[in-house]
Amino acid sequence: MNKRILLTGADGQLGQSILRESNKFPSFTFIPTDQHNLDITNPQEVSNELDKIKPDYIINTAAYTNVDGAESDYDTALAINSTAVNNLAVECKKRGIFLVHFSTDYVFSGKKKEPYNTHAKCAPLNVYGKTKWLGEQAILAINPNGLLIRTSWVFSIFNTNFVKTMISLASKKEELSIIKDQIGQPTSAHDLASFTLNFLFQNQPTGLDTIHFSNKGICSWHEFASEIIYKSYDLNIIQKKPLINAVTSEVYPQKATRPKNSVLDISDTETRFDIDIRSWKDALDDVLVLISKAKQESING
Ligand SMILES: NC(=O)c1ccc[n+]([C@@H]2O[C@H](COP(=O)([O-])OP(=O)(O)OC[C@H]3O[C@@H](n4cnc5c(N)ncnc54)[C@H](OP(=O)(O)O)[C@@H]3O)[C@@H](O)[C@H]2O)c1
Repeated sequence: MNKRILLTGADGQLGQSILRESNKFPSFTFIPTDQHNLDITNPQEVSNELDKIKPDYIINTAAYTNVDGAESDYDTALAINSTAVNNLAVECKKRGIFLVHFSTDYVFSGKKKEPYNTHAKCAPLNVYGKTKWLGEQAILAINPNGLLIRTSWVFSIFNTNFVKTMISLASKKEELSIIKDQIGQPTSAHDLASFTLNFLFQNQPTGLDTIHFSNKGICSWHEFASEIIYKSYDLNIIQKKPLINAVTSEVYPQKATRPKNSVLDISDTETRFDIDIRSWKDALDDVLVLISKAKQESING
């Protein structure tokens, strides 16, 4: 019998990327939900849905992800990123459901010089990071069978993300100012989706694990933006290249303080799962080709 996967936050970029991959896994039945039909902050709704669906797995991609918005909306961010996650973990433990949950590089302070491994101390600098970290803590305390995947700088063909924002700004502006003193590793939501589903497909997972998943290659936001813009120009996604100024975080203040270094150490993930995670530049190429095709199709009607 097919294993049943309840997907929360299915309209988000990772949720949509998982659904896009789902047809490669015919032995799974996917039940996609988003907050209009399953609000994860409503325990009664969650309980009723689980009674009805009886999933084997929950993949929770639902989250409050507006990093700057969270600074003035602590209660909502906490409700979605922590309290609701606590409830999902309780339900999973009670019902024997395997929980896949995603967290963030922003649980780290960024003060270290090296990449962060899964044992590194968490010390979030902003509300988003803090609420995501509290969500992690809730899962670890309740201890359902599950996989907690920290990821970073996520981009895809779906919704709004840094890649699509840069493309949009490049068409409108002559000059851009992009931060050069925050470094991380961009992650294709498509690669993360593929990893997640392959993990569930290849394993009969038990126990609770924390892992890191990002694409390979360290860069600053400025280097990321430059690569996006040059490649988008070559692919005819944009018709002109704006000047891309490299600025410091002090010159470009944001509501939420970000870590200067949020590079995730993914070597353990590669060793344990015997995979070679590709570079973010290769992953970006694929996403830009899809964006270019979509643009061409919309022009051709
Ligand atoms: N994006 C990144 O750069 C990044 C970086 C590190 C980690 N992550 C983590 O990766 C995961 C996936 O992120 P993403 O980029 O796919 O985020 P996303 O695009 O913002 O998607 C999140 C989805 O959750 C939905 N949602 C919000 N509140 C909900 C609720 N109460 N009940 C059910 N659904 C709700 C959102 O709906 P609405 O749009 O209607 O609010 C949205 O569809 C998250 O755990 C995030 O913290 C993301």
